[in-house]
Amino acid sequence: MSHATEFVVRPARVADREIVCAIRAHVGWDQELVESWFHDVARGSRFMWLAQVGAEVAGMVALDLVDRHDPDVADGHSRAAVTSLAVLPPFLRRGLGRFLTQHVEKEARSRGVTWITLFTDPANSAAIRLYESLGYVEYKKHQRPWGMAVHMHKRL
Ligand SMILES: CC(C)(COP(=O)(O)OP(=O)(O)OC[C@H]1O[C@@H](n2cnc3c(N)ncnc32)[C@H](O)[C@@H]1OP(=O)(O)O)[C@@H](O)C(=O)NCCC(=O)NCCS
Repeated sequence: MSHATEFVVRPARVADREIVCAIRAHVGWDQELVESWFHDVARGSRFMWLAQVGAEVAGMVALDLVDRHDPDVADGHSRAAVTSLAVLPPFLRRGLGRFLTQHVEKEARSRGVTWITLFTDPANSAAIRLYESLGYVEYKKHQRPWGMAVHMHKRL
């Protein structure tokens, strides 16, 4: 059952850097690039949001308009990517992953994006199920700096 209405989504600010690092640490991801992402936010090539329940942070997501490794992922024009989707353990399976992905789709559409993309570890069956349920389809497997990724996209 979805409880998405309990979540409030707000832009992540520079002051949220530690929170973003803590969320990434929770899900086992690196934090080296977090600082540079806030520069991308200031430049307008990346948008980041936090989801909260009251004062408590429950998860995060980002929209990348440019991907420095692969223009198929985000080319600064028609293609942009959902990245950094993470939900903290107490809030799993309450519809937040779906809610945040749809939030990014809406934001991307409002910026003229026509194809929304994402990539994940091929072993991440929870994420793949979530994305398939939203209509994403695989278009390639391709190496990312952290390993081989399954790349999915969807026409907005
Ligand atoms: C993947 C992730 C974002 C899902 O977040 P969530 O808020 O629990 O997802 P939702 O509640 O919106 O689930 C939506 C659907 O996704 C699928 N799903 C989510 N978690 C699942 C799991 N553990 N096992 C199987 N399917 C799962 C289900 O189809 C689910 O629908 P249902 O609950 O009606 O069955 C979360 O597990 C997470 O943060 N994982 C660690 C970080 C990560 O892998 N991020 C994605 C990287 S690209």
